[in-house]
Amino acid sequence: MAFSVIGFSLIQLVGEYLFTQRTRDDQRIAEALAEEFSDYLVSFDVRAMYDAALEASRAEQCRILVLDPMCVVQVDSASAMNGSRFITREIGSVLAGAPSDYGFYDVGNAGTYWFRATLTAFPEADAMTGVYAAGITSGGSRIGVLVYISQVQEIYESLRDIQVKIMSWMVIVALAVLLVNMLVLRTITRPIGELNEGISRMGKGDLSARVSVRGKNEFSDLAKAFNSMSERLEQLDNSRNQFVSNASHELKTPLSTMKILIETLLYQDPMDTGMTKEFLNDINQEIDRLSRIVSDLLTLVNIDDGIKLNLEELDIGALLQDQVKRLTPLARENGIELDCSVKDSLEVNGDTLKLQQVVYNIIDNAIKYTPRGGEVHCTLARSGKTAVIRVADTGVGIPEADLPHIFDRFYRVDKARSRETGGTGLGLSIVRQFVLLHGGSIEAKSTLGKGSTFIIELPLSGRKAEA
Ligand SMILES: Nc1ncnc2c1ncn2[C@@H]1O[C@H](COP(=O)(O)OP(=O)(O)OP(=O)(O)O)[C@@H](O)[C@H]1O
Ligand SMILES: [Mg+2]
Repeated sequence: MAFSVIGFSLIQLVGEYLFTQRTRDDQRIAEALAEEFSDYLVSFDVRAMYDAALEASRAEQCRILVLDPMCVVQVDSASAMNGSRFITREIGSVLAGAPSDYGFYDVGNAGTYWFRATLTAFPEADAMTGVYAAGITSGGSRIGVLVYISQVQEIYESLRDIQVKIMSWMVIVALAVLLVNMLVLRTITRPIGELNEGISRMGKGDLSARVSVRGKNEFSDLAKAFNSMSERLEQLDNSRNQFVSNASHELKTPLSTMKILIETLLYQDPMDTGMTKEFLNDINQEIDRLSRIVSDLLTLVNIDDGIKLNLEELDIGALLQDQVKRLTPLARENGIELDCSVKDSLEVNGDTLKLQQVVYNIIDNAIKYTPRGGEVHCTLARSGKTAVIRVADTGVGIPEADLPHIFDRFYRVDKARSRETGGTGLGLSIVRQFVLLHGGSIEAKSTLGKGSTFIIELPLSGRKAEA
């Protein structure tokens, strides 16, 4: 539409320019001739008038008619209309008072033979014709009309040429625009459609929905972002499912054990006090285990929900020593030598309860997975702006293949052995989450059969770190 508006205005402008030039010239000539013919008409010298008209018509390549106020042709330079009446709109307008006027006629389409014969400047030319009428006056009154007929065919033709050129360019440009438009639309709408489909699939619960990434533009970025989002969601969904099924399994095991124990107790006849006591003791242990699992699970859920830390400046060396002291009886019971060396007095900004749990879990593991006669050494040292806690044992070690997974929820290297020791595989995942919440890191190194070392790094609190 914009192109057609521009095209048509351009044609109009060029046309107007060409025609105003021409009409102004022709009209000036017609007016000059009208003045010249005034005297002839007053003296009514038809002969001289005809000669002058003929001469002027040859000079200007035009046809000249002189009309009296009754529109009767007095002189016709082409000698065809002498004595007949001739009237056009322009002549009428001049007779009505206008000094001069003009109009254009397409002689080829002008209809009647008469009109054609009267209008043609040169009988053989069947073309666009301009008719200029100028009033002939004498002593202030109108005594006749001079009609100047000239061909304007060339202007029409050049105008038509321009028109054709502009139109064809417009068509070419419009087609090109259309083509580009279609290509652009295709590249835009296709990825949007695909993305839309992917989103609605995901909305219906199909988390495996992915879209294809093509090219390198905003849409491919969007597709990439969508894919990584759906991938992450799928991972989360899978791990949640895994978590729920693991959790139910872990909860179910002590329940079934308790059920068997209770049923055995119920059906024993007569009651054996010794056995009853033993079974009740087992049931009590299973209940402890259950409540430990539930509290671990709750801790993990709280972490996932964005748990808040009760931060305070704390002496991490003292905290480590406290936990070692707490676990010494357990170590002794298992025939393991547990010691602790704190090299620097270091302060971290942390949550006491959670860091206690971290240290406790790691040392507890070290004791649990070290056979009788082994050793567990705990150390605290400073490294740059971090406090480094190392818990090294001489225990069973962890196979290389399992090492990357030990921090996963419910992951246990040796399920049977862990069961004996009462582990559920949640300890280390809680530890890692707590350490990360403190802005620290945890790493495990191990040699199978020789022992493992757990290294926890915690950022020192501002004051100490500066010092
Ligand atoms: N010091 C260690 N030496 C050898 N293996 C270890 C050690 N610490 C952890 N592991 C392995 O990593 C697994 C995961 O440890 P994690 O503390 O998460 O679980 P757990 O000790 O089995 O159970 P929980 O701590 O929940 O009672 C353990 O089952 C064990 O196989
Ligand atoms: Mg553990």
